[in-house]
Amino acid sequence: MHEWTRKHLLSIEELSKEEILTILETAESFKDISLRPIKKSPVLRGKTIVLLFYEPSTRTSTSFSLAAKRLSADIVNIPVKSSSVQKGESLIDTVANLEALKIHTVVMRHSRAGAPMMLAKHTNASIINAGDGCHEHPTQALLDMFTIKQNKGSFDGLKITIVGDILHSRVARSNIWGLSKLGAEVTVCGPPTMIPVEVEKMGVKVTYDLKEAIAGADVVNLLRVQFERESGMLFPSVREYAAMFSMDDTMERFMKKDALIMHPGPINRGVEISSSMADGKRSVILEQVTNGLAVRMAVLYLISGEKNNSEEA
Ligand code: CP
Repeated sequence: MHEWTRKHLLSIEELSKEEILTILETAESFKDISLRPIKKSPVLRGKTIVLLFYEPSTRTSTSFSLAAKRLSADIVNIPVKSSSVQKGESLIDTVANLEALKIHTVVMRHSRAGAPMMLAKHTNASIINAGDGCHEHPTQALLDMFTIKQNKGSFDGLKITIVGDILHSRVARSNIWGLSKLGAEVTVCGPPTMIPVEVEKMGVKVTYDLKEAIAGADVVNLLRVQFERESGMLFPSVREYAAMFSMDDTMERFMKKDALIMHPGPINRGVEISSSMADGKRSVILEQVTNGLAVRMAVLYLISGEKNNSEEA
């Protein structure tokens, strides 16, 4: 296993293939802890981890919180809506004050792309990016890669299709970086208004035809239409979007027999995916959520563990 030396986890773009594989292998070793009667390991005892989410989250915040508890760390959740952020306190000042309380690691989600990178330059704490604007969502991509590895064994030559709002999707961006580094072939599909022109420079194929995109794919990853980022302005109507890009039963016959359906959640049922597909036999959507816990335990261990972070911030 590659020796881990990074203080922060900011993006998949900056990771090497070996670093990604180290996280996936570490996650594998943590998976069993959740199956034990006593779901605890002492590896982060004495460490303090802060969750600082400026955007809503269910899966990421809960699984980071649970991951920290399973590894015996102290965990503090800052409710941004009732914190001094509401009085205008800056991100840098907020974290400087948390640092004064001798914390080790900040897991942060922010609406602005680059916020975790900026913060990493202004703090001694380790920063883990839990999603920054439309830029990256590294731990989502890591849990997606972990789920693919568990189901398909290896990435070499694997055909992965990502469908939907590529333009606004930090999940798509992190997945494209990671999957390409691991040797998979990535295709993106969606309305032309939702596919940024520069995406082809990342080495992916582009198609605007869902049937073409899913034919031969080993994995189809559906993205949420991000209405809160005004994705709805990029197509004429939800009904029209669903007619052209929703993964529903009519698409079944175009898919490989063993193709998987993935979705990072939360799902807009009937928009990017039908309930029958989301809850059907191909779906590994809840498996992704389960795997998110092991992956986030691995990330917290590598970033906050004794070897990497023995001094208090
Ligand atoms: N996939 C994802 O990031 O979900 P949450 O927004 O609920 O954390």
